[in-house]
Amino acid sequence: MLDVVVLAAGLGTRMRSRSPKVLHGLCGKPLLQWALETARSVLGSSPLVVVGPDHAAIATRFGAQARFCVQPRPRGTGDAVAQSLPHVLPNAKQVLILYGDMPLLQADTLQRLVECQARLAEPGTALLTLSRSESQGFGRIVRDAQGNFREIVEERNCSSTQRAITELNVGVYVFDVGWLRQAVGDLSLQANREKYLTDLPGRAVAEGHSVQTVPAVAAEATGVNTRVDLATATRRMRERINTAHMLAGVTLDDPATAYIDADVAIGADSTIGPGTVLTGATIVGEACVIGAGTHLHDTKVGHGCHIRDSVLEGTTLEDDCHVGPFARMRPGSYLERSVHVGSFGEIKNSRLGPHVTMGHFSYIGDADLGAHVNVGAGTITCNFDGETKQRTVVEDRAFLGSGTKLVAPVTVGRGAQTGAGSVVTRDVPAATLVYGVPARAPEVADASDLDGP
Ligand code: UD1
Ligand code: CA
Repeated sequence: MLDVVVLAAGLGTRMRSRSPKVLHGLCGKPLLQWALETARSVLGSSPLVVVGPDHAAIATRFGAQARFCVQPRPRGTGDAVAQSLPHVLPNAKQVLILYGDMPLLQADTLQRLVECQARLAEPGTALLTLSRSESQGFGRIVRDAQGNFREIVEERNCSSTQRAITELNVGVYVFDVGWLRQAVGDLSLQANREKYLTDLPGRAVAEGHSVQTVPAVAAEATGVNTRVDLATATRRMRERINTAHMLAGVTLDDPATAYIDADVAIGADSTIGPGTVLTGATIVGEACVIGAGTHLHDTKVGHGCHIRDSVLEGTTLEDDCHVGPFARMRPGSYLERSVHVGSFGEIKNSRLGPHVTMGHFSYIGDADLGAHVNVGAGTITCNFDGETKQRTVVEDRAFLGSGTKLVAPVTVGRGAQTGAGSVVTRDVPAATLVYGVPARAPEVADASDLDGP
């Protein structure tokens, strides 16, 4: 049986950050989440062991997905593994150990490593290596004259010949659990008072056990130690994400400037314009045109929608909506099918019925608009009375004239009309025209004029 340990307790001092390294985000997920998801695809659904720092945010964020164990002080990767072993399942035969700062690792690479170790004479060790001239501070793989693995030497301990070695230690291993439990106890302290996990494969060789290396692809072994590494890893992950979308039938006008988070879904035959940012749990339907210059966050877009130069968050659009340029939608906005929102429209916590048109600089907040409502230029819901937010209701086919102010709570009835510049302070009955400040129906506003000759 296999168990997995993810090491994530390092201080990450090279990040120069107040928050732990593994909480830094990459394409919408913290580094540690990437490691957990990749590991889980090898392990199956059972929770794995995470060795973390004594940091509440990490335990809270990942507690449900993992058997969490704290390494109180970061005394090296060897010490971290020692702390984890009491949490490793007693019946586990193999343990896969990986570092929480390597988000690009692929599941099938881990799978190959696990299979390689299973084939070795017991107790065997398998580890991932990569060939790359740029070392990124990685440990070097030292081999004997016959080319057999001999040991890992950390960069800071390398001789000048060893430093020139281009075969590097990725930091992912599969050990025999029984052997590991006994060997880890004997790790000696380095000059920097850390215990190095990397000493163990060399020790296994010295004890006459089999150690086998498995090559990884260089791009997947990008470790994140600094924010420069984080940017490099993000760029590579973005390429991976964007390539997958393109192969699945999405056009990216400029993949280099399409920023798409890992969990975003996009339907076939949609086009994503340059400088477009799709984040969080965003879902885009088929045959949409999104961008240029649009940011969608946690937003669900139906089929056949066009959105450009706009910012939408926590919003739902049904099919065939047209938005922008320069629209803003805040959480709780819901556009039913075929709604048109033009330039400088802001919507918050409101539902717009089918075929609503809102062409120019309006604010609709805390409102429910029925079907085919026309929102004239400059219409504003005055939804805040200084203490609480109040709702506005505009029923089907109402026509709001330019510059209408709707002082909530207020209802404009079905088919009613407001004149330009109306300040609507009282409910408007269906099929009635009101205008003025405050807005009234003509017979009320101009009662004296109605006397007639
Ligand atoms: C480590 C390896 C190096 C390898 C490189 C690949 C060791 C000694 N060196 O170096 O051979 O080429 O990774 O990325 O293992 N961690 C703990 N507790 C600790 C220290 C670290 O949990 O006390 C965790 C970190 O959170 C991190 C991982 O272990 O996720 C690796 O630690 P890091 O300090 O980044 O090691 P490197 O110097 O990169
Ligand atoms: Ca590292």
